[in-house]
Amino acid sequence: MVVQVQGESLVEEVLMLKDAEAGLDGVIAVHSTVLGPGAGGCRLWHYADGEAAFADAVRLAEGMSYKNALAGLPLGGAKAVLRRPAGDFDRAKLFRAFGRAVARLEGRYVTAEDVGTGVADMEVVAGETRHVAGLAKRPGRPGGDPSPHTARGVFVAMEHAVRRRLGRDLAGCTVAIQGVGHVGEALAHLLHAAGARLVVADVDSERVARVAVETGAEVASSAQVLATRAEVFAPCALGGVFHAESVEAVRAPVICGAANNQLATAQDGERLARRGILYAPDYVVNAGGIINVAGEYIGWSPEDVAGRVESTGARLGAVLDLAEAQGLAPHLAADVLARSAIAAGRVKTPIAA
Ligand code: NAI
Repeated sequence: MVVQVQGESLVEEVLMLKDAEAGLDGVIAVHSTVLGPGAGGCRLWHYADGEAAFADAVRLAEGMSYKNALAGLPLGGAKAVLRRPAGDFDRAKLFRAFGRAVARLEGRYVTAEDVGTGVADMEVVAGETRHVAGLAKRPGRPGGDPSPHTARGVFVAMEHAVRRRLGRDLAGCTVAIQGVGHVGEALAHLLHAAGARLVVADVDSERVARVAVETGAEVASSAQVLATRAEVFAPCALGGVFHAESVEAVRAPVICGAANNQLATAQDGERLARRGILYAPDYVVNAGGIINVAGEYIGWSPEDVAGRVESTGARLGAVLDLAEAQGLAPHLAADVLARSAIAAGRVKTPIAA
């Protein structure tokens, strides 16, 4: 089934998920399988209605196509969105039912964890289908928590961005990190080891205090961290960080962080560019986790995964080169490169009529 949304975004296939007994209510959206199986996590979240869940799945699936294409992975893009049942629910039952739905797609969708889901849920899914990654780590194989890989990719991208924009390395730079969760904390440790000065913020005061002690960081309030006087601002919490108002408050000349969908609108990326701020596009720099997931699913070695994560700086470089050559803001240059990688794949693998 091909679905058209708002006249432009095409998704190849949509599977509506309904199993009242298991508490399953959601959707799997497969945006593209041109480059390989559609891969993207399974989100379990509160949605006002089915329409909101559907719209989120389609938007996120398209984002996964671009992220995977730009990372050079032999994967298309897809996403599952499940509406979180109200009150207590049988988690294992829900994820068994979800696993059966993934199995029905016969490999056109590969799932993994995302917001609201974890390794234990994916282990349950694995009882129903082999098209799942993000399982517990086994010796000699990639797997487990993707966050350290995401942090490493953000770190090497940041090194590249700072060298390019400021002509220096990270030692002695001040980096302000918004959100020291799984990725932000690992990033803070990498930056501390590289000799950067840190300012950290998190709504979880215990967590931020612990990370500050471990990395010698200063603590800023969540409201203020975006306006820190620093060389780099690293959003590692939620999306929608940059909007018409907040763009004006940023003081760092480089933005490079893990959070997904940092720009509230595409215009906000152009506003940042007009202010001379180098914005490293989120889906270019935060692909380390999906690279690890891909390695687990496809069967790459941990060394192969690490090598691909280390190339994140070079991939950001290609995006910024195109942006400069064509006078585009970096987020638009990233979209151009991702779309052309998918189009090139389509030429190689024509879709059967
Ligand atoms: P997490 O949930 O472990 O960490 C997020 C942290 O941000 C939490 O400690 C939370 O308390 C904090 N936070 C929430 N609102 C905040 C605010 N307004 N100000 C300051 N801190 C705030 O999530 P994780 O896994 O570290 O992911 C961080 C971001 O990176 C998310 O946007 C996620 O979608 C994105 N991402 C994560 C990947 C991964 O491998 N974990 C891969 C690609 C993207």
